[in-house]
Amino acid sequence: MINQTIPSNTEDRHAGETASLPEEFRAALRDHALAPLWDFLKAALPHGRPAGVTRPHRWRYADVRPLLLEAGRLVPVAQAERRVIVLSDPGRGPNAMSATGTLYAGIQLLLPGETAPTHRHSPSAARIVIEGRGGFTVVNGQRCEMERGDIILTPGGQWHDHGHDGEGPVTWLDVLDLPVFTAAESAYAEGGHDGCNAEEPLMTLTSELLRQGLRPPRAWRCENPYPMLRYPWQTARAALERLAAATGQACAELAYVNPENGQDCLPVLGFTAMMIGPDQHWQAVPTSASTVFHVVEGSGESRVDDHVFDWSAGDTFSATTFASVSHRATPGQPAFLIRVDDAPLQKKLGFFQERQLA
Ligand SMILES: [Fe+2]
Repeated sequence: MINQTIPSNTEDRHAGETASLPEEFRAALRDHALAPLWDFLKAALPHGRPAGVTRPHRWRYADVRPLLLEAGRLVPVAQAERRVIVLSDPGRGPNAMSATGTLYAGIQLLLPGETAPTHRHSPSAARIVIEGRGGFTVVNGQRCEMERGDIILTPGGQWHDHGHDGEGPVTWLDVLDLPVFTAAESAYAEGGHDGCNAEEPLMTLTSELLRQGLRPPRAWRCENPYPMLRYPWQTARAALERLAAATGQACAELAYVNPENGQDCLPVLGFTAMMIGPDQHWQAVPTSASTVFHVVEGSGESRVDDHVFDWSAGDTFSATTFASVSHRATPGQPAFLIRVDDAPLQKKLGFFQERQLA
């Protein structure tokens, strides 16, 4: 990837100058909060392929876990609100609050008996459970148990809190579309609610009935764009194995969707369960989406452009837009990954592409 950005500080502003202009003219532009496009056009619209700054990276769970447990000793959850260590894109420098341009990822810890207080925010989130039993998330009053590999959705604007009734640490990967909301200057949160709203019981009942093929009268039917909040891993895993057996293939993938309409389950983020057979090679079609891969089971190795990442359960790695991505599972056992990307957003914006750029 070309590492090129629009200069943002005063010293760099003349770095892209393409025309000799009188300093007096440049000063006049600056004085009126104006800028010459021609100096920065190629940086803003690079030819051939996007000029991303994301650097693909693999975060080993074995590296993150001890630091997370140390954070558990150092930082009370009531003080932190959410005790999370962010998977920070090295391409954006220290403390970057994203893994790619559009995807935030972080690993959250709850210790037995702890509660992460109720809040809601404009970005949507999904939790992919890594470790522990007894964790749960309550979304608008609906309790979702958290088992390893499960995906729990907390859509934007919905009240949610987390708790832990079991023993030992519970950890999960948080993935949010926070960078999109940050770019739109629309990221914010609210707290201090009891976690319910008046429509929620009716929305939940409506969703249950629709899944049973029963549609309530329109007069009292509430539209719920998120009828399914918990996607159990065991269901997805079994479905991948059935699909692979039915097709005679060693690899399989399944998208997580809204069960009522088959569409993406969140507006910005897309989720796919992947099975890679033992010692099998998976060459992905390059796409314009940026991606975070999380390893649920097994081990293997992935190539993301010039980067080679070996991985095992609990690890997470990123891929940039239009990256060449391939995976191989180690011999002897299949590997299972969950892919999270921003394809739903790109499709809504009309520029999602599946192709190899020259
Ligand atoms: Fe949250």
